[in-house]
Amino acid sequence: MGKDWWKKSVVYQIYPKSFMDSNGDGIGDLNGIIQKLPYIKKLGVDVIWLCPVYESPQIDNGYDISDYYQISELYGSMSDMENLIEESSALGIKIIMDLVVNHTSDQHRWFQEARKSKNSPYRDYYIWRDHPNELQSNFGGSAWTFDETTKQYYLHLFSKEQPDLNWENPKMRQEIWKMMNFWLDKGISGFRMDVIDLLGKVPDQMIKENGPHLHEYLQEMHQATFGTRNTMTVGETWGATVDNAHLFTDESRCELNMVFQFEHMQLDKQPGMHKWDLKELNLIDLKDVLSKWQDTFAEDGWNSLFWNNHDLPRIVSRWGDDKVYRKLSAKMLATLLHGMKGTPFIYQGEEIGMTNAYFDSIHDYPDIETQNMYKERISKGYPEKDIMASVQKKARDNARTPMQWEASKHAGFTQGEPWMKINPNYKEINVEKDLKDTESVFYHYQKLIRLRKENNLFIEGTYQLIDRDHPNVYAYKRVLGRQALLVVCNFYSKPALFEYQQKAPLEIQILLSNYKDSSKNINHLQLRPFEAVIYQLKE
Ligand code: GLC
Ligand code: CA
Repeated sequence: MGKDWWKKSVVYQIYPKSFMDSNGDGIGDLNGIIQKLPYIKKLGVDVIWLCPVYESPQIDNGYDISDYYQISELYGSMSDMENLIEESSALGIKIIMDLVVNHTSDQHRWFQEARKSKNSPYRDYYIWRDHPNELQSNFGGSAWTFDETTKQYYLHLFSKEQPDLNWENPKMRQEIWKMMNFWLDKGISGFRMDVIDLLGKVPDQMIKENGPHLHEYLQEMHQATFGTRNTMTVGETWGATVDNAHLFTDESRCELNMVFQFEHMQLDKQPGMHKWDLKELNLIDLKDVLSKWQDTFAEDGWNSLFWNNHDLPRIVSRWGDDKVYRKLSAKMLATLLHGMKGTPFIYQGEEIGMTNAYFDSIHDYPDIETQNMYKERISKGYPEKDIMASVQKKARDNARTPMQWEASKHAGFTQGEPWMKINPNYKEINVEKDLKDTESVFYHYQKLIRLRKENNLFIEGTYQLIDRDHPNVYAYKRVLGRQALLVVCNFYSKPALFEYQQKAPLEIQILLSNYKDSSKNINHLQLRPFEAVIYQLKE
């Protein structure tokens, strides 16, 4: 196995709470994942990214960790975790875990000790000040909370139950390295690193992202933990730009393999405003942003490719059409993304075209971020119907409704009462149905993954955008020597014309399409609603 196996891999993200419940308590768990490994194998992915399963009071669904060395009882036991690693590995599937080290839970022993006294040996694991400044929490409100016992404020860039760790403290960093090595020794193959660009924060200067010492910490981490092992690392970086992303990912810097950048996922909000402030996506903006990221990593560094995760709404509801053209548009979006250069990530349910929830009541959206925003905006006098329109479009819970396995009660997710309401469309959209239908979204993803394995053009081909100004069609080439892939996607339900200016005569083959009878006449293509085709061209 080469050092860069992650360049040839496709990753499947699991949100354990909502994936599969094996014991009827309504909460997904590790044994549920083990039961579904054959399904994941059938899809063809090589890696599972497992969202946090550590001990946690679940204020932020496990992104508030109270013990890094324990598996939450909700999800099972350490031996279940060991079984999962072993059974996945037997199927040739690697596991990467979520590394949440910007903050802990306020129930973590370190914080419990730290808050007892200013002289606690753990005091300096966190960030304390006599006076708060204007810094805001990413979940709304001040980033500082007053702690009665010692009469100081502590920093939390997320909820007050998620105090920020002080990365300036070398002793604290040692503890993190130890913990990471513990999990690597258990046989996991790397980490997805939660809000990793926040580690270098300097609260007194109002710096959250990309602080001055961030890269020193990451280099130290690399050296002390995964650097000598054959792993995959991907950092979550909301603050990444094409200029600073190389600092994380260029091989010579010995930091991470890739980052999740979010520039493309922010094109449908009002500039400078919050994600809740909606705006239509402009396809040309999307082309510009994705192409810029493809170009920046043409030589050094590597892209992650994703539309979805547990923090983002469902892509088919967001930029596709989840009504009449659900299957066609889900396949188009998959094709557009998986044809690009980078490592594709699929979020659970995306592979069957799961949609946003469209619940009418705010009570059906338990997520802390959404709940806080709702209260804040109600108090500021926003009309409730506007708030709910944003929630239905953008809330993180749209991705967190339980996985739809079957048409039977509770979508086959649980025998008990599900912890979160199931999307009412589960009888229409579920795994069982997709597996029986050779034209399903599932088999389209399976084919995209297989093509990537069979055809090196997907991995190494250089990316070239075609016809940037076409308002409805996103088309690009991937070129390697005398061969190329041509990916043509009609992004909308309106028919569109695409014309390819070919210089020399070409041998043209269709590798994949979401219609049975797509044309090979690439000089003059009449594209139907959401039609998406991958051609292989040979000179
Ligand atoms: C990341 C996670 C998100 C979490 C936050 C705080 O953005 O993906 O789910 O709420 O960090 O840990
Ligand atoms: Ca369970």
